[in-house]
Amino acid sequence: MHTRDTLKVNEKGHLEIGGADCVDLAKKFSTPLYVLDERHIRNMMRVYRETIANEYGEGTVLYASKAFSCKAIYAIAAQEQIGVDVVSGGELYTAMQAGFPADKIYMHGNNKLPAEMDYALDCGVGTIVVDAYSEADYLDAAAKSRGIVQKVLVRVNPGVEAHTHAYVQTATPDSKFGFSVQDGAAESMIAYILGKKHLRLAGFHCHIGSQIFEKESFVLAAQKLLAFTLKIKNTLGFEASVLNFGGGFGVWYTDEDEQIDAEGYRSYVRALLETVKKGCTEHGLKKPAVVIEPGRSIVAEAGITLYTVGAIKEIPNVRKYVAVDGGMFDNPRYCLYQSKYTPVLANRAAEEPCELVSVAGKCCESGDLIGVNMNLPKAQSGDLLAVLTTGAYNYSMASNYNRNPVPPVVLVNEGKAEYIVKPQTYEDIVRNDVIPEYLKR
Ligand code: LLP
Repeated sequence: MHTRDTLKVNEKGHLEIGGADCVDLAKKFSTPLYVLDERHIRNMMRVYRETIANEYGEGTVLYASKAFSCKAIYAIAAQEQIGVDVVSGGELYTAMQAGFPADKIYMHGNNKLPAEMDYALDCGVGTIVVDAYSEADYLDAAAKSRGIVQKVLVRVNPGVEAHTHAYVQTATPDSKFGFSVQDGAAESMIAYILGKKHLRLAGFHCHIGSQIFEKESFVLAAQKLLAFTLKIKNTLGFEASVLNFGGGFGVWYTDEDEQIDAEGYRSYVRALLETVKKGCTEHGLKKPAVVIEPGRSIVAEAGITLYTVGAIKEIPNVRKYVAVDGGMFDNPRYCLYQSKYTPVLANRAAEEPCELVSVAGKCCESGDLIGVNMNLPKAQSGDLLAVLTTGAYNYSMASNYNRNPVPPVVLVNEGKAEYIVKPQTYEDIVRNDVIPEYLKR
């Protein structure tokens, strides 16, 4: 188990997070329950912000809010003086409702809807990352009709293959994201945007994938983006003043993954910044503002999910299923990516694991698993099961499959625990259901 001062086994042998005993949390808030450790989140935001400020100068950290979005996380990001990126009208609305400063918001998306672009312009979103000709046309016209000039970046694909799951790779030649720097597509798009009177191109954006551990992948992407910056300066006479390298830093899920501490994440950013500085000197470029967009590495390890063990089914010579009161509706990542997690019996956390089990959810679907071959002490019905590292892409990818309510989220810090997302009720689930008159007869 990957412990730290805010995630450990306490003297009662219970799992403790942010000073709160998980057994008490389950009693007070019930299960299934997402729990997020505020200090961990703030520490990570600070690590990124301070590294750029102290070791580079001009630049920004954006929290990639797709990893976990709710009003409170935008409030924390605002207090920590970082920006955020949003990828939909819904994320933007949530940020605006939290009072997040619009000028510190970047908007992404490979297919932004006209209504989303209008909304972004009306909110005064600072930067929009353009990813299609149709978007450039729409934004230019929409900015013109508002009498404004919108700051934009172009999303480019540097063609770096990062070692991660195929679904979360984003910069391979076959990607729906960005314009390739290799085949001239990016250059043509930039020329097109430079011709738009109501768009002000500030620079380029790339994102090579997610859950990446190889520093070299980030360094390579930075080198390619700088070489591209030089090329565009020479061919189009445009010198980028902003380079956004996206997110993607890996996190610990199981002992197969590296454990990276604050210093480790600092060294990822440092490697990127050093590459930019070196590249600028070599190519005679002005030092651009550097933007990074970490999501997972800010919230993933801050989060755990608490479940109550229910049915236990042992199929001789096949496997043992330990079923919990959650499942793919709160964590679809095993189903989608065969992601691995570390489970802990939170009420008996000091006990040594002694058997391999599959942790199943409660949905009517055989594939509804949290994980297979998970190492646990002998679990019994009523035990409290914690799954670690669920702060990113769990709540944000949750669904109401089988009309299960999405679990609430509590934020813990120094033993205090508060809802940041309240429990969904059955009433919430049917809120938008309508029975047309003719069906009532
Ligand atoms: N910036 C852009 C443009 C992105 O597309 C992403 C993630 C990020 C930043 C943040 O990357 P991070 O630091 O979180 O790795 N649902 C998948 C992950 C999809 C990531 C999509 N883009 C999962 O559960 O693993």
